Amino acid sequence: MGSQTGSEAAGPRQVAADDADGDWSAEVEQALTEATEGLSDRSQITIDTSVAHPARRYDYLLGGKTHYAADRESADAIESAFPGIRIAAQENRRFLRRAVTMLASTYGIDQFLDIGTGIPSPGNTHEVAQSVLPHARVLYVDNDPVVLAHSQALLTSSGAGRTAYIEADLRRPAEILEHPALRSTLDLNRPVGLIIVAVLHFLPDSDRPQQLIDQIVAALPAGSFLVLSHGTWDFMPAEMIAQIKALPTPKTGVFQTRTKQQVERFFKGMDLIPPGVGAINRWHAENEPEPRPTDQQTAFLGGIGRLR
Ligand SMILES: C[S@@+](CC[C@H](N)C(=O)[O-])C[C@H]1O[C@@H](n2cnc3c(N)ncnc32)[C@H](O)[C@@H]1O
Repeated sequence: MGSQTGSEAAGPRQVAADDADGDWSAEVEQALTEATEGLSDRSQITIDTSVAHPARRYDYLLGGKTHYAADRESADAIESAFPGIRIAAQENRRFLRRAVTMLASTYGIDQFLDIGTGIPSPGNTHEVAQSVLPHARVLYVDNDPVVLAHSQALLTSSGAGRTAYIEADLRRPAEILEHPALRSTLDLNRPVGLIIVAVLHFLPDSDRPQQLIDQIVAALPAGSFLVLSHGTWDFMPAEMIAQIKALPTPKTGVFQTRTKQQVERFFKGMDLIPPGVGAINRWHAENEPEPRPTDQQTAFLGGIGRLR
């Protein structure tokens, strides 16, 4: 089905996030055995290092260690036109942390579906959620095999909680929603925090991102939340936009920014948590260390919606 699951090394034995619940482990192990059929070790995961990839480029921008020359060249090229890019990556990560903390502490959300997880980095969703609610559960999803290869760090759940990882594509929601690891990790009869942070700008309109969100949201009960962040040109001067647009696409890959109005549409039918969709550097950021970056440096919109 085009998805694999794994942890330390991709393989049927390295799958369980915790062994506190024997039944759960057995169930997930069975699901993962099927998902990873033919994948006996990590060396069989094919990772193309010759072209830049969002997960590795983002890791480079955050000061991580999992990136290759093509990723660095791509990030450096974008930085030459948009000097705020490293700040943007850091601010996005901060937004994610604040959003997960808010959902867990204010709304008691204890299960999360994090699509477009990225390479593990300090403040992974389960670490943040479990620091508030130790029993919290997280299912991570990404379509980049390099994230699978590093997914061990995502499976370090607290004993009381659970985490799992599947390699799947947001553009094929059914594969995520029907994956046995989802049903084994999350209870879709109870509210879920759906996290789609810094991902949708990699999906052009031709991928129909609205329909994809609608399809996933339709599987979640009322009282669930959507956390979303998205690159925007709303705060940028025209000449900076022109410089970014002039960069060669093979270097930068697909990147479709959207306006505030377009990002708001992803929350259709939901109640937006005040102040609504806005610049992520200011979104509930009153406790972040000063000085705060500007909207232009960050160039990201974000918000949280609650399903009715
Ligand atoms: C910029 S990173 C964001 C990581 C994390 N959400 C965060 O905000 O820190 C974008 C991630 O989305 C993943 N991604 C991009 N397109 C995807 C798709 N169609 N399905 C699943 N994951 C995708 C990339 O592989 C990458 O890991």
